Amino acid sequence: TNSGRLAGKTVTVTAGGTREPLDPVRFLGNRSSGKQGAAIAEAALAAGARVRFIAAHLETPVPSGVDLVQVETALELREAVHAAAASTDVLVMSAAVADFRPGENAETKIKKRDDGADPVITLVRNPDILQEAVQCRAESGTGPALIVGFAAETGDGSASVLEYGRRKLERKGCDLLVLNQVGRSLVFGQDNTEVRILSPQDAPGSEPEAVAGSKADVARHLVDRIAEELDA
Ligand code: C5P
Repeated sequence: TNSGRLAGKTVTVTAGGTREPLDPVRFLGNRSSGKQGAAIAEAALAAGARVRFIAAHLETPVPSGVDLVQVETALELREAVHAAAASTDVLVMSAAVADFRPGENAETKIKKRDDGADPVITLVRNPDILQEAVQCRAESGTGPALIVGFAAETGDGSASVLEYGRRKLERKGCDLLVLNQVGRSLVFGQDNTEVRILSPQDAPGSEPEAVAGSKADVARHLVDRIAEELDA
């Protein structure tokens, strides 16, 4: 049991999918359910942590007992993460943050045009909030002791899922990376999943242990690992 292992610690969890408005009635979204993030929040609460839950769009209830911050867009999520970063021991970035947003958010509903011309939507890059949190910690010398990122990879002929995960861990600079293999009807909105937890301390060429089971099982395993890393 991990009861009490995170007593006195604050854990900030981002969860769900951001929605990027096109106009007052439309948005670009994604299929993230927020279930994995909610399960992590619950496991952290069960381990005695204070949990700040930064929720984008969820298809699952908000766990009871969290301090809830609701956000819609990636830019709002970024503000919430920045505001939390100075006063959290752990940051878990399980939200599916949109990589792009519409360049313009029209003030009124986009109408079908009389001339029949198709509308064109231009997308602009969103900031990488995880990378910013890592950078900000390095520059300021303060911030979360542990920053955890997520990656959903498919792999391809030239590189395995694990290799993509290792590259992402290095690029993002976080302390742990929860790697999900997608495209096997696992992950999005599903109740069962299989992940590997990567760390920069892993021996080169090592095969990190896979954790399979419900999202609650994975969450408990991750929270145990977080407690170990904080103790080390
Ligand atoms: O690069 P990729 O989107 O695969 O990275 C996934 C990880 O980065 C997740 O932890 C996600 O929450 C985070 N992320 C972010 N800001 C973005 C895109 C992803 O913090 N704009």
